[in-house]
Amino acid sequence: MNDKIKISLGNESHEFPLVKGTENEVGIDIKDLRSRTGLITFDPGYKNTGSCLSDITYLDGEKGILRYRGYSIDDLANNVTFLEVAYLLIWGELPNEKELSNVSNEIQESSSIDKDLECILKSFPSKAHPMGILCSLTSALIAFNPSSVDVSSKEKMFRATIELMAKFPILVSWVHRKVNGLPINKSNSKLSYTENLAQMMFKSSGDNYQSNPIIINALDKLLILHADHEQNCSTSTVRIVGSSRAGMYASISAGISALWGPLHGGANQAVIEMLEKIKADGGNTKKYLEKAKDKEDAFRLMGFGHRVYKNFDPRAKIIKKTADEVLTKLGINDPVLDIAKGLEEEALNDPYFIERKLYPNVDFYSCIIYRALGIPTEMFTVMFALGRVPGWIAQWKEMRLNKEPIGRPRQIYKGYNSRSL
Ligand code: ACO
Repeated sequence: MNDKIKISLGNESHEFPLVKGTENEVGIDIKDLRSRTGLITFDPGYKNTGSCLSDITYLDGEKGILRYRGYSIDDLANNVTFLEVAYLLIWGELPNEKELSNVSNEIQESSSIDKDLECILKSFPSKAHPMGILCSLTSALIAFNPSSVDVSSKEKMFRATIELMAKFPILVSWVHRKVNGLPINKSNSKLSYTENLAQMMFKSSGDNYQSNPIIINALDKLLILHADHEQNCSTSTVRIVGSSRAGMYASISAGISALWGPLHGGANQAVIEMLEKIKADGGNTKKYLEKAKDKEDAFRLMGFGHRVYKNFDPRAKIIKKTADEVLTKLGINDPVLDIAKGLEEEALNDPYFIERKLYPNVDFYSCIIYRALGIPTEMFTVMFALGRVPGWIAQWKEMRLNKEPIGRPRQIYKGYNSRSL
C-alpha cells in the first residue's frame, strides 16, 4: 500500500500521508487539510476519526479481540489481578513481585480520606443518584490533592496515581453505603485491593468480615474487563479535558460524568430495568423475545448486541462463566435472574438472534453478577467507573506525554447569515 493518498478537488490534487498502526490500521493524516484546501472533514460522533496515536488498548470488533498492551483480555482475566492489570495499563508492563508489592503497600498507606470529605458525603440527600455523588466527591478530592500533576515528573505522577487508585475504592464504598443507608467502613490495610473494596462495601457493623473467594474473583474480573476500551466516550472526554492542561483528577471527574449516560456506562442499569419489567408483566420471556424481533415495536433486548463487537464480545465470554459460578455457588434465588437466564437461552437458540450475531454483551452478565451480590441497580455504573480508573489514568498520562494539542473540533455553521437588529 502507498504511504500517501491523493485527494482531487476540481483541477487540483493534494497528497496526504497515511498513518499506519502496528495492527495494520490505516488513517489519512489530514492535519493540513484546511490550510491546504480550505476544507474540513464532517464526522459527527467521530466514528471515522482517529483522535490520537495510542499504545494502550487494541480492539477489533469484527474478530472479537480486546488486548491491553498486547495481552489478550482472556489471558489477563484468567491469570492476573485487577491491580496487576492497572499497573500494566498505567506503567506499560506487568509488575514483577517487588513492583507489585511496592504499589500495593503504597496504596494501602494512602487508603484514607480527609474527614471533611465525609461531611460532603453526609450532605447529599439520600435519594441522590450514586453517579452524581461519585462525580462530586471525585471533584472534591482535588481540593485535598494537587490540582495539576506534573506529568514529566515520574515521582509526582506515581504519587498522584497511587492517591487516586487508593482513594477511589473508598469513595465507591462510601457511595454504596450511603445508597443503602449504612455507616461507612474503614479501609483495612491487611487486605488485597479487591478484598478491601468488598470489605468496605459489604461488612456489617461489628461483623468479623470473611471475604468470599467467589465474590472477590467476580469483582476482580469485572474490574479487569472494564479497565480500558480505547477511545470510548468517557475516555475521549478524559483526554480532551486533559488536553486543556486540566489536572488528572479534574479530567477523570469529567470522564465519570460522561460514563453516567445511558448510552455508555448506564446501559447495564437498563438490563435490570428490562428484566424487572418482564417480571412485573408475568415473566413471559417469549413475549418479549417476539417484541424484540418485531420491527414495528421499538423494544430491543437490552444487553444484546454491541456497537463495536459484531461477532461476539470477548469480555462477555469471560464473564458469563463467572456469572454462572456466582449464581450456582452462592445459591442465589432471584426470579429476576431466572428471567435473565431464560432470555439468554431462548435468544441464543433463536434464528433472529443467531443470524444477526446478537449475543449477550458484557453488560448483560455484569448486571447479573452485581445484582447477585446485592449491589443496587443505580450503583452498577459506579462499579464500572472503579474498573475504568486505571484506563483513564493511562490515557490521560499518554495524552500529556505525547504533548497532544488542545482538543478543538470545528463545525459546519448552518445558522443565520449576518443580519441587522
Ligand atoms: N434486540 C433486538 N434486535 C436487535 C438488537 C437487540 N438488542 N440489537 C440489534 N438488533 C437488530 C437490529 O434491529 C438490526 O436488525 P435488522 O438487520 O433486521 O435491521 C440488526 O440487529 C443489526 O443491529 P444494528 O442496529 O445494526 O446494531 P447497532 O450496531 O446499530 O446497535 C446496539 C448496537 C445499539 C448495542 C444494539 O444492539 C442495541 O440497541 N442493543 C441493546 C442495548 C444495549 O445492550 N446496549 C449496550 C451495549 S454495550 C455498550 O455499548 C457499552
